[in-house]
Amino acid sequence: MSKAFQIKSYLQFYRKAVTRYKVHSPFLFQLIEEVLEDDRQYYIFASLSATRKQLQASKHELTIKDLGAGSHVSNSNVRTIASIAKSAVSPEAQCQLLFRLTQYLKPKTMLEFGTSLGLSTLYQAFGHTQGQLITMEGSPQVAEFARGMFVNSKAKNIQLKTGNFDDLLPEILKGLAGKLDYVFFDGNHRKEATLNYFEACLPYADNNSVFVFDDIYWSPGMLEAWETIKQHPSVTLTVDLYYMGLVFFRKEQQQPEHMKLVTQAAKPWTMGFWS
Ligand SMILES: C[S@@+](CC[C@H](N)C(=O)[O-])C[C@H]1O[C@@H](n2cnc3c(N)ncnc32)[C@H](O)[C@@H]1O
Repeated sequence: MSKAFQIKSYLQFYRKAVTRYKVHSPFLFQLIEEVLEDDRQYYIFASLSATRKQLQASKHELTIKDLGAGSHVSNSNVRTIASIAKSAVSPEAQCQLLFRLTQYLKPKTMLEFGTSLGLSTLYQAFGHTQGQLITMEGSPQVAEFARGMFVNSKAKNIQLKTGNFDDLLPEILKGLAGKLDYVFFDGNHRKEATLNYFEACLPYADNNSVFVFDDIYWSPGMLEAWETIKQHPSVTLTVDLYYMGLVFFRKEQQQPEHMKLVTQAAKPWTMGFWS
């Protein structure tokens, strides 16, 4: 993403974004309280934070087979673990949000596009250990590294599939018994691919499913994909957090609603006692 696009899109987002004080839906208000603004530190956070620091210091090299929109940071196909951990892996605060999301929603079936080193996978899997998380990674050496991470962490609810999303997806969806409660789209940040994956997963979504799209402002194409997803007739509620977007299909939401949301700390003057 160009710097100019990044600054312009963030300013446009920020200008329109509201805080929880403008939210009327009890469902959304509770989601904000329990997930988006919850600052409790869960025991797993400390150990995954230590793992992240180890990864960020590792000079071990992996050969990358890039099947997605690539990296804004590196075009090299041999990269250190440290470089991947610093650029491709979701930041700690976002991983913690994913943990709280799966903990709160308790999805039985979870799917992740883009495992990378496996950090986001671990947060989501530990968020709801009773659910099953299938994660897909197309770069074989990266996938093998993530597999080692899952073994070391003793996570029992992760199935790692190695291969191109396009090849893996039909078989995975067929094996789901018709239902997908939670999807994290975090690989191949191209407009067409993102829309294709959304359409492929859609028939498996029900009233309580949530789809999470990472990096919705990554490029003009990703932003167009996000706008198209928002307009889909089965989508009833979206929450744009800038760094990711949440999509809900709840029929209780009679009028479609699309919110841009920031924490109250980002717009402190919106707090009740100042208005
Ligand atoms: C942004 S990284 C995922 C980061 C990870 N979710 C995290 O936050 O820790 C995206 C990953 O998706 C993989 N990927 C991209 N396009 C793919 C495709 N078409 N098929 C399979 N894997 C793909 C890349 O190899 C890369 O490791």
